[in-house]
Amino acid sequence: MNNPPQKLGKDFTNFEISGRGFLLGQLRVPGDKSISHRAIMLGAISEGTTEIEGFLEGEDSLATLRAFRAMGVQIEGPHNGRVTIQGVGLYGLQAPTEPLDLGNSGTSMRLMAGLLAGQSFDSVLVGDASLSRRPMRRVIDPLSKMGAIIEATAQGTAPLRIRGNPNLQGIDYLSPVASAQVKSAILFAGLYATGETSVSEPAPSRDHTERMLSGFGYSIKHEGRKVSLVGRGELRATRIEVPADISSAAFFLVGASICPGSELVLEHVGINPTRIGILHILEAMGASIEIRNKRIVGGEPVAEIFVRYAPLHGIVVRPEWVPLAIDEFPAIFVAAACAEGETRVTDAAELRVKESDRIQAMADGLRTLGIEATPLPDGMVVQGGVFSEGTIDSHGDHRIAMAFTMAGLRAQGPLQISDCANVNTSFPGFAELVKVVANGSYTVENISFRQKQEK
Ligand code: S3P
Repeated sequence: MNNPPQKLGKDFTNFEISGRGFLLGQLRVPGDKSISHRAIMLGAISEGTTEIEGFLEGEDSLATLRAFRAMGVQIEGPHNGRVTIQGVGLYGLQAPTEPLDLGNSGTSMRLMAGLLAGQSFDSVLVGDASLSRRPMRRVIDPLSKMGAIIEATAQGTAPLRIRGNPNLQGIDYLSPVASAQVKSAILFAGLYATGETSVSEPAPSRDHTERMLSGFGYSIKHEGRKVSLVGRGELRATRIEVPADISSAAFFLVGASICPGSELVLEHVGINPTRIGILHILEAMGASIEIRNKRIVGGEPVAEIFVRYAPLHGIVVRPEWVPLAIDEFPAIFVAAACAEGETRVTDAAELRVKESDRIQAMADGLRTLGIEATPLPDGMVVQGGVFSEGTIDSHGDHRIAMAFTMAGLRAQGPLQISDCANVNTSFPGFAELVKVVANGSYTVENISFRQKQEK
């Protein structure tokens, strides 16, 4: 096997994968990341005590939790997914004494930019190297139209210096991208603005913000693709049960679909219609997926998902599925590599500005493993084939690391995936959970080591 790529100056985790196998059993993946972030944010600015169950104890949602503690909110937990928040009300946050470090989390930074723009204090939002490269003008521009004062780098990236302006004004914004982060940032700023704030999108994006605002007793109006609220109302504390994250379940849906002998039950998975693009896409490829025991828990649809191996075939992914599966494409490209024939994804340029450039990172990794993968400006064409052995750079992107872990189930030789520590941002315990359901000779070793510090 090749030597691990050398990177200096920080701790590294590599996944070492060997053997082939299949997935068998029943499991519950960790709580939904999008819902966990929003539960902290809205719980903090509501009146009363909010209880959360099933909170994702991953680095991203913990970064949000710490940021609100740093603004004076009392938050207990998480203890086994339970978090209790003593809400301070819409106007009760206190000025943070230091920059708020949001680590790898784009959701924290974009949503909090909206929420902090209308405060009566200033704040600074910082993140890690990946987050500091991600585009922030998509939230800064509309927020500025509301009167927000936000300074970024010349490239429109973090650090974001927010000068609080308690006199924001509502807007009617037509977003050029289907992005729940943009929509939510504007709606959060709208809570503090005079009059009505509306956002329209070119295609539906995840609607957890709208659902949760309703859960906190805040009135939200929907007219077609437009969502509106009137600012300066009141949020009332509530109980939130966070479902398992379909974006984390996606790796197991793909792993089971591509390996003969696999049969998995994924428990209590959130199946919000704005998140189930992965189910549409895998089903169109011929996957065997069954949804059972559908119910509504705390305003979000939840179900058990049964998946077993089925031979997949390539498809042209319908553009309307793309925003509904936006975080699942690393896993979908692995499924495509195991399918017969060609899979074509377009209208997915957003993948280039996620935690890594997911089009390039996936195309490079698939090619390393002998798969014909042609990156397009807004997607990729993948020819089904056979994975060879090799070393993959995950570029510190959690979803690239987890997608290739599933590819390892079908690889002809050992795989080494480098720079996997960020798997903890969304899926703490991933490698351990894979071991629980992996059968055959397949193993994942999670190897951490400290590189020499750069002089
Ligand atoms: C998220 C929205 C999506 C998604 C991200 C989480 C959210 O981003 O990729 O992981 O919680 O609102 P965009 O809104 O930028 O597409």
